Amino acid sequence: MAQSGRTRSANVERKLSCVVAHRGASANAPENTLGALQLAIDHGAKSVEVDAMISSDGVAYLHHDDTLNRCTSGSGYLCAAAASELDELDASGRHTTFAGEPIPRLDRAIALLVNNGIGLNLEIKPTPGLETETATAAVNALRGVWPHTLPLVLSSFSKEALYTAKQLWPEAPRGLITCALPVNWQDELNALACTNLHMAAPLVAPESAQQIKSEGYGLYCYTVNDVEQAQQLIGMGVDGIFTDRPKALLEGLSQE
Ligand code: G3P
Ligand code: MG
Repeated sequence: MAQSGRTRSANVERKLSCVVAHRGASANAPENTLGALQLAIDHGAKSVEVDAMISSDGVAYLHHDDTLNRCTSGSGYLCAAAASELDELDASGRHTTFAGEPIPRLDRAIALLVNNGIGLNLEIKPTPGLETETATAAVNALRGVWPHTLPLVLSSFSKEALYTAKQLWPEAPRGLITCALPVNWQDELNALACTNLHMAAPLVAPESAQQIKSEGYGLYCYTVNDVEQAQQLIGMGVDGIFTDRPKALLEGLSQE
């Protein structure tokens, strides 16, 4: 039986709460742009994941790759360009309806999310060698403006970046991103006081999910664009699903 928003079961509410828009609604808008964040919000997402890196003068931007080539009108390393240069680039890529969309500064993305009451998983994505600086810029952009009432996780593949985040802002929840499950995953999480493990979805096995959850850690999975796969992972107990297609997952998961 179809259910209205008001009468959704706790099971459906839990499934919907797992959906995290990966780089915004990145299947339908240029990834890691304000346009992609706004589209995710318009599609009903309650939380988003974005990647953060820094310019040569230390300004934090949303961007995934070390280089500008794939996603912007620029080329070369993002970390070699000054903020004044980055602000002139077009990040719309193949999404022609978004022509002129800039690479957003992190502080502008934060403002958009806060104004709309959207949770954030900020992935600290340092170009190798800039782990401390990138984490510092990310923390500085968030601390003092991010409301305690909104969900926030700082995550990274970089243990050095997570260590810096822990030193600067110990209260902010942290997630270690891996691909496969490390043998000593408890030690790795505890060394950085991480609350979460973020894994590649195809490598999440029911037994390991059960163990991670039973030991009290959050488990998030990337990147899932298929409703059936999302249902299976949520059935294993995962807390979050990063998806490029939040609209499709929210619709698919809204069924019992
Ligand atoms: O944070 C989860 C996921 O985004 C990690 O991989 O390469 O998509 O940033 P990537
Ligand atoms: Mg990411």
